[in-house]
Amino acid sequence: MSTVEAGTIIEPYIVENQSKSIFQVNRRVFVDEQILARETKKIFETCWIYIGHESELLKPGDFLTRNVGGKELIFVKDKDSQVRAFFNTCPHRGAMVCREKHGNDKMFLCMYHAWSFDLTGKLVSRPEGERYHSDNSEGIHDLVPVGKLDNYRGFYFVNFDDNAVDLKTYLGGACEYIDLTADQSEVGMEVVGGTQEYGFDANWKLLVENSIDGYHGVPTHTTYFDYIIAAGGQLGDTGTKVNKPRDLGNGHAAIEYGSPWGRPIAKPIAAWGEQGEKDCAALREKLTARFGKERADRIAYNNFNLLIFPNLVINNVMAITIRTFYPQTPARQEVKAWALAPKDESAIMRERRLYSFLEFLGPGGFATPDDCEALKMCQKGYDNMTHVEWNDISKGMSENKQGNTDEKQMRVFWREWDKRISGGS
Ligand code: FES
Ligand SMILES: [Fe+2]
Repeated sequence: MSTVEAGTIIEPYIVENQSKSIFQVNRRVFVDEQILARETKKIFETCWIYIGHESELLKPGDFLTRNVGGKELIFVKDKDSQVRAFFNTCPHRGAMVCREKHGNDKMFLCMYHAWSFDLTGKLVSRPEGERYHSDNSEGIHDLVPVGKLDNYRGFYFVNFDDNAVDLKTYLGGACEYIDLTADQSEVGMEVVGGTQEYGFDANWKLLVENSIDGYHGVPTHTTYFDYIIAAGGQLGDTGTKVNKPRDLGNGHAAIEYGSPWGRPIAKPIAAWGEQGEKDCAALREKLTARFGKERADRIAYNNFNLLIFPNLVINNVMAITIRTFYPQTPARQEVKAWALAPKDESAIMRERRLYSFLEFLGPGGFATPDDCEALKMCQKGYDNMTHVEWNDISKGMSENKQGNTDEKQMRVFWREWDKRISGGS
């Protein structure tokens, strides 16, 4: 993509014209099989992609299997507590070695010809092993580890590209928001309540936009806002100094803002009663002792929607959701989402959190069905693409003063997407 003068289109996917405040995305990017193939190769095969949270592998032997960027992977803690990731395919003739979604075991046994592997991926045994002349000293009959696996503050990522930069460099400015998440507890954060999985008919990048889109909040989720006001929340309660979209580098972006809803860490609403006020005050006091008032208030009051390019969203709102989503086809995606919470949270706060999580963020909550419907309507609208070709992402482009209902954060994503997709073959 280039910044060009009016009327000049030099790249097919995105047009940006600073002087005229034009930023357009060609609707072909949401429907084209060839673009999906390029995304697989140039984005999902080269970016750091989220695989899971440290709390999902507590004990040696804990494992889970997950499709990450179109690859079937095993994510496991070995007997020495080292976390590893393997391609979930047998080195013999390819069967998926681990068929359970999660569990705890000492080894993996392939169901096809019963080769077995320890938790470091080493071949342990195979029936009629004496018929093999190789002693596997070169490891060709071991499970194949993913090229790169690393974590930042307990968030684990894989990268299939041996030449990729290290994770911390890749995350860049997004570390600030991961820190604001991880710092919510002295003893660590944990994924609670399993995985929410759902799919719907819209391109995956529409959910990227939606996950960091402050503009749609009130119009799309009117019912929720009416309900929150009725429960004693107040619209326009900003409580934040940031209140503008952030470009965090490398395609990562965030919006940070106040809100009318309660936050179990640690902003009460009237519906939680006097006890809620007290609980939150005690939590804020603890945070203040650890970080000083300014950072403590930021953690307690400020919401954020964080996008880590290309497809990890951490939304720290009335609860925390971790969400990833992958394309099945250009017009369909599958979503996985988890709730994250402080390990040392009190039972009542945990109850408030999980209630809020399901109420707004869950697949049957106030928000998700509305959002899915809106994105499905966009996808259907692209049936008219040959006649109406461009999406507009220019809101707030000409203003010096930017707000969270502007679209800068989406432009951050699209520039990175275009840089990766448009370059080379
Ligand atoms: S495919 Fe796994 S043992 Fe044969
Ligand atoms: Fe929404």
